[in-house]
Amino acid sequence: MNDTPFTTTTAGAPVASDEYSRTVGPNGPVVLHDIYLLEKLAQFHRERVPERVVHAKGGGAFGTLKVTEDVSAYTRAALFQPGTETPMLARFSSVAGELGSPDTWRDARGFALKFYTSEGNYDIVGNNTPVFFIRDGIKFPDFIRSQKRLPDTNLRDPDMQWDFWTLSPESAHQVTYLMGDRGLPRSWRFMNGYGSHTYLWTNASGEKSWVKYHFHNRQGVENLTNAEGQTLVGVDTDHYLRDLFEAIERGDFPKWDVSIQVMPYEDAKTYRFNPFDLTKVWPHADYPLIPVGEFELNRNPENYFAQIEQAAFEPSNMVPGIDASPDKMLLARIWAYADAHRYRIGSNYNELPVNRPLSPVNSYAKDGHLRHSYAPGRRPVYVPNSFDGPVADPIRAAESNAWHADGDLVRSAYTLRADDDDFGQAGTLVREVFDEAQRERLVETLAGQYRSLHHDQIKTRFLWYWTQIDATLAEQVKALIGA
Ligand code: HEM
Repeated sequence: MNDTPFTTTTAGAPVASDEYSRTVGPNGPVVLHDIYLLEKLAQFHRERVPERVVHAKGGGAFGTLKVTEDVSAYTRAALFQPGTETPMLARFSSVAGELGSPDTWRDARGFALKFYTSEGNYDIVGNNTPVFFIRDGIKFPDFIRSQKRLPDTNLRDPDMQWDFWTLSPESAHQVTYLMGDRGLPRSWRFMNGYGSHTYLWTNASGEKSWVKYHFHNRQGVENLTNAEGQTLVGVDTDHYLRDLFEAIERGDFPKWDVSIQVMPYEDAKTYRFNPFDLTKVWPHADYPLIPVGEFELNRNPENYFAQIEQAAFEPSNMVPGIDASPDKMLLARIWAYADAHRYRIGSNYNELPVNRPLSPVNSYAKDGHLRHSYAPGRRPVYVPNSFDGPVADPIRAAESNAWHADGDLVRSAYTLRADDDDFGQAGTLVREVFDEAQRERLVETLAGQYRSLHHDQIKTRFLWYWTQIDATLAEQVKALIGA
């Protein structure tokens, strides 16, 4: 008992009671100068920050990236040099559901990684699928709204979802993944991750390559059936969260192999489809996987709010030797995430322990809400200066060696190349990647989706969309629904 700490106010003063408000006599009114009561209620009212506008429901853990291979021919980034070990945080999430939504609703899953490197934070904010629904960031708010809730009933609405998808045929590849087995992982430990976008890597000699990331889980890919997913919705809404936490608690640390596909810089100009189009994968026959290393998650958060809810992942966190590509989605995201964090967490979100780099921060950024770090001594607050303030380093900086761009200002789709289309890779996924059992489950899932639609024009377009992807599959769906 003697070791039990005493309660204090947030300013550190001892508190007289944890149970009773200050009143005029035992039965009298509560006084306005009950400082502790006021503080307790006011703090409580402010406990929640806005949930993430997407990927609100999630969980994560800390771990280590180990680079076991030598990929220094492609990048000078310190974290990818042979033998390097880098502390990291991973957060997995569902996309459309809100903060308390069931883990086992069919959805794409977020796969966000933050590496605390010796050259600043590097974030890879990907999904459990290698492609995405759209290829231009200007459509992202519309896409997300179609997956969330109707304005009047506040219900989610299959008509709205399929209306958007079937009017946006570039979604076909990702929707095929989503309606297939990978739309319902057994848990986060049993899914792969992908950086999805193409990134530019630069080596120590300044040579450039285009790169895509793959994270294959060592636990094996395992998925739930629709029935299993629905049962878990009723039995344990937090199934994924619990599974990850408990596995790490018992020392069963999940692991992922890290590999890359590398496209020589010049290939991108003439490749048969636009390699920066986020709705497409690069066939492994053209660009095989090159192993890099592995990461393991081995430490649970001690405080979910401080370390997971306030974690701020952002594709704009890049380090020397790694840069963006001309993928229009990636370029939109590079602005979007830091902007979202400034709103959701506050302008000094990078000062929070979970977001703070381990490497020194010598920024001229100053002030703002809840700022608590400051430059030592009388360091100048402006640059250029004559007083030994930090100076930029164009040689080490991430953007020192980027790509060429030229053209009139337009609003346009990507220029089409010979193999650029919306449905080709989706059809290949159905015919060549899914086995017979997976195709059967896909047909069942699609029949269920069709039955949930109300508008005739959306039903018609639904069947057209799947006929474009794979005519045989569409016929099987039609047979099942009796269309
Ligand atoms: C989260 C915007 C595309 C993966 C978010 C958040 C925003 C956002 C605002 C919430 C951030 C926060 O409050 O912490 C966008 C925009 C996109 C886009 C504008 C398109 C232009 C994508 C794509 C992927 C992706 C293509 C995957 C390949 C994620 C993940 C999270 C996320 C994994 C959750 C990160 C976490 O765990 O905190 N996105 N997103 N997003 N997004 Fe996107």
